[in-house]
Amino acid sequence: MIETSPRGEASISRNLTRRFVADWHAAHPQGNVVVRDLADTPLPHVNAPWLAAYFTPEDKLTPEMKETLRMSDTLVAELLAADHIVIASPVYNYNIPAALKAWIDHIVRKGHTLGFDGKGLVTGKKATVLIASGGVYTEGSPIRDRNIAEQYLRLLLNAIGITDVTVVAGGGAKAVDMRDATMEEFVAKHAVAIQHAALA
Ligand SMILES: Cc1cc2nc3c(=O)[nH]c(=O)nc-3n(C[C@H](O)[C@H](O)[C@H](O)COP(=O)(O)O)c2cc1C
Repeated sequence: MIETSPRGEASISRNLTRRFVADWHAAHPQGNVVVRDLADTPLPHVNAPWLAAYFTPEDKLTPEMKETLRMSDTLVAELLAADHIVIASPVYNYNIPAALKAWIDHIVRKGHTLGFDGKGLVTGKKATVLIASGGVYTEGSPIRDRNIAEQYLRLLLNAIGITDVTVVAGGGAKAVDMRDATMEEFVAKHAVAIQHAALA
């Protein structure tokens, strides 16, 4: 499970995840949830040393290069070990926050999650994306064409081989921040979709 929001308890996407985890645990009592919290683990952006290591064949990696790729290796291993990947994210400026994009840049690794032929290697898994956004981007919305965050996450997950993707679009989340709705009311609106995803 990937948590992105820096807003802790006030985060709407985190409250959607909390509901998802409760439903998932009820359906999978023996299941183990591994949380990668991007608010606690700031990831370095791709830079020159990282790219040098990335483009070096495994058997030619120096100890420094291995160290440079260590976090990426850990994140890839977490992804490959999971049966169901849950990504919770706010929408910032119509897209995913930079922290989540940094995670993506670390987990898309040629030969590990993406084949050298361009085919995704992360097959046989499910993904659920829980999005909180101030605006509403669902079917019929006048700003539907700005639904970039959802489209991008679907595209990226598909590219690495995950085709069973469910998106819970928590649009209109600003109602909670404006105190026009409680967190519980907002989460309850998405409860059926969340439960459906958790039981899948
Ligand atoms: C810097 C920033 C940019 C935002 N940009 C958008 C946006 O482009 N579209 C939108 O619908 N909501 C936008 N929002 C609203 C957030 O998506 C909304 O507050 C959401 O609840 C944040 O997720 P969280 O509650 O899990 O932190 C923005 C919020 C912030 C703080």
